[in-house]
Amino acid sequence: MVGRYSQLSPVAFGADAVDTTGEVAKELGLQKVLVVTDVNVEKMGHAKKVLDSLSAAAVDFVVFNECEMDAPDYIVQKGADLAKAQKVDGVIGIGGGSVLDSAKAISLLATNDVSVAELLDGARNMTPQANGPLKLIMIPTTSGTGSESTIIAVISDTVKHEKIGAMVPPSFAIVDPKLTLGMPKDITVYTGMDALSHACEALTSIQPNPHADLLAYDAIRRIFKWLPVAVSDPMDLEARENLALASNHAGIAFNDAMVHLGHAIAHSMGATFHVPHGIACALVIPVIIELVAPVYPDKVKEIGACMGLGVESDDPVKIGLVVANHLRAFQKELGVPTLEDLNISREGILGCTSYVANEGLRFLCPVEPTDQVITASLAKMYDGYQ
Ligand SMILES: [Fe+2]
Repeated sequence: MVGRYSQLSPVAFGADAVDTTGEVAKELGLQKVLVVTDVNVEKMGHAKKVLDSLSAAAVDFVVFNECEMDAPDYIVQKGADLAKAQKVDGVIGIGGGSVLDSAKAISLLATNDVSVAELLDGARNMTPQANGPLKLIMIPTTSGTGSESTIIAVISDTVKHEKIGAMVPPSFAIVDPKLTLGMPKDITVYTGMDALSHACEALTSIQPNPHADLLAYDAIRRIFKWLPVAVSDPMDLEARENLALASNHAGIAFNDAMVHLGHAIAHSMGATFHVPHGIACALVIPVIIELVAPVYPDKVKEIGACMGLGVESDDPVKIGLVVANHLRAFQKELGVPTLEDLNISREGILGCTSYVANEGLRFLCPVEPTDQVITASLAKMYDGYQ
């Protein structure tokens, strides 16, 4: 079997890495950049660190701070119009996943004479744009999406009510765990669960590779060891470093191996019930582990080992159940809500079947995602975690 693994872009990792942004921009030959962010990241003082570093390196900048959750298309268009009007030669995204994805799409629109709607249509048809993106520096302020090291920018098409993945490779990632210090407990847990789902799905898609496996197992080990520490002490830098690394490693892993039915279900929950992505991922991962265990019993056993669990059985179904239940117990400890807590009924979640059945990622699942499999998975999300 021929696998493929990528080294998309360099990563500068460590406390205070954000202070090197100006030097990195200079290394990339940038003279005037668009800094894409949102008002919360500005309020926390993170964006200022970027601006100070750019000033010190004599790199000119313009700030676009209007990013919104789920990266809506009209915001991307607004940012791209500003990039074009200001004739910037690079884009820096600093923020959570939605900010980074918006910055990616802005950098691609800025070099092409198309609207955001045309860009999303191109992404749907797998038609690349004529020109590559502007140079792009990604600085995450959460430890979840791994978007700083993936080629995918997930943008919300607010006309067709769909989430579309456009391909935009970043030029450089700056991962500074200090930017995540003090993050509230719930966001720490949900972003950590997103990273965990990237790792578990990358390991069990139909196109895994040994490089992705290595990074994904490492991400699971770090999340299990350090997420509870970060939750009990939001200022623990060692915990934040490990979670930032886990998120980055899981991102690189799924950039090649991809995610599958778990994310197809999470996207449907986001679109239908506006459940934050990380919560949806948390609720679906144990179900996916049970589903794929008969296909990948050894890998699921190893996932359990990374969670600190010794699984004695060689029965694939039992392996899946034991590892999934261990994960459910971990999530309970961390306060992950049930579907009922989110006011989603059993009938309501089963109603997502048709949406999931049209989500492209389902085809990367190693178990054929028939309507029956999808419905059973949705039912297990409700029944299996109460
Ligand atoms: Fe995700």
